[in-house]
Amino acid sequence: MADIILGIESSCDDTSAAVLKDGWLLSNVLASQDVHKCYGGVIPELASRAHQQNIVPVVSEAVKRAGISLGDISAIAFTRGPGLLGSLLVGTSFAKGLAIALDCPLVEVNHLQGHVLANFVKQYDKENRVPSFPYLCLLVSGGNSQIVKVNSPLEFEILGHTIDDAVGEAFDKCSKMLGLGYPGGPVIDRLAKLGDPERFRFNKPHIPGLDYSFSGIKTSLLYFVRDEMQKDPEFMEKNKEDICASFQKTLIDILMDKLVKAARQTGISEITIGGGVSANSGLRARIEEEGRRRGWNTYLPEFKFTTDNAAMIAVAGWFHYLNGERCPLDVAPLSRIAD
Ligand code: KG4
Repeated sequence: MADIILGIESSCDDTSAAVLKDGWLLSNVLASQDVHKCYGGVIPELASRAHQQNIVPVVSEAVKRAGISLGDISAIAFTRGPGLLGSLLVGTSFAKGLAIALDCPLVEVNHLQGHVLANFVKQYDKENRVPSFPYLCLLVSGGNSQIVKVNSPLEFEILGHTIDDAVGEAFDKCSKMLGLGYPGGPVIDRLAKLGDPERFRFNKPHIPGLDYSFSGIKTSLLYFVRDEMQKDPEFMEKNKEDICASFQKTLIDILMDKLVKAARQTGISEITIGGGVSANSGLRARIEEEGRRRGWNTYLPEFKFTTDNAAMIAVAGWFHYLNGERCPLDVAPLSRIAD
């Protein structure tokens, strides 16, 4: 009998539900929350309230679009963490309630594992290339920047991670401070395409090993713009494309330096990316370019699977389900998960 997994994701500001049949995607529904835009960042209390409003219609729509009935579900996979506690609580409680009502097993998923395994969501009309194990995943989002060695669907090693801000935070905070809007990544990505990435230089951090740091570059950009604006108040407006292009290029250089080092150290040439920042067009182009030059096999998830989505949670949950893992009904969400 086929395994039908309902995935539920509610770790931050996207409510999502997806249905997978033996790893094949039947539906993936997402409700984003515009309510945070005017605050320039996610407001946790508003996020959890919006999840409460969205969760029932989103799950119902996913089940309807999949063409299944609730009774067909083999297991419910949900994001247990990391993320915003109030947001996670909505998805976790809903998953538990539905599991009790349907008398079906629950499977917990680490949100980051979902991002790392996003390439394994199979789609009927697509090529579905998947990396072979072990592979390296550059996991870059609003809350994380890591290089993960993926030995199997259930076995991961974090080779390096940020010691301060995540790269997505650098995009978001700088965009907010420069008055460009929120979320910063897509805005800077769009403006960067119109600018000269070589025009301005920002100092790169010198962190040993495979760890990252993004707080210094963020501060150096903000001081640079502030100093220039004192000389010419229109500096930002006149040069925003070049500033974004140069800033984005520096972030990509930092990410790539360590990824290249990790590939060299491990001898692994199967390379994937995941997390919201992996939607960045400059980063995607650069990974492909480095891949061609260095003989890597690169796997870039489709845009819809880069940011938060339940399809990746369902596929990670399916691997855990196949491994016989089940989660008790008294499970509590976790805002942080130890490495
Ligand atoms: O994985 P994600 O959807 O959520 C969490 O971090 O939980 O990632 C969101 C992050 C934000 O920082 C956003 O600015 C960034 O992904 N992002 C991008 C792009 N699209 C989203 N960063 C750079 N370029 C993009 N095109």
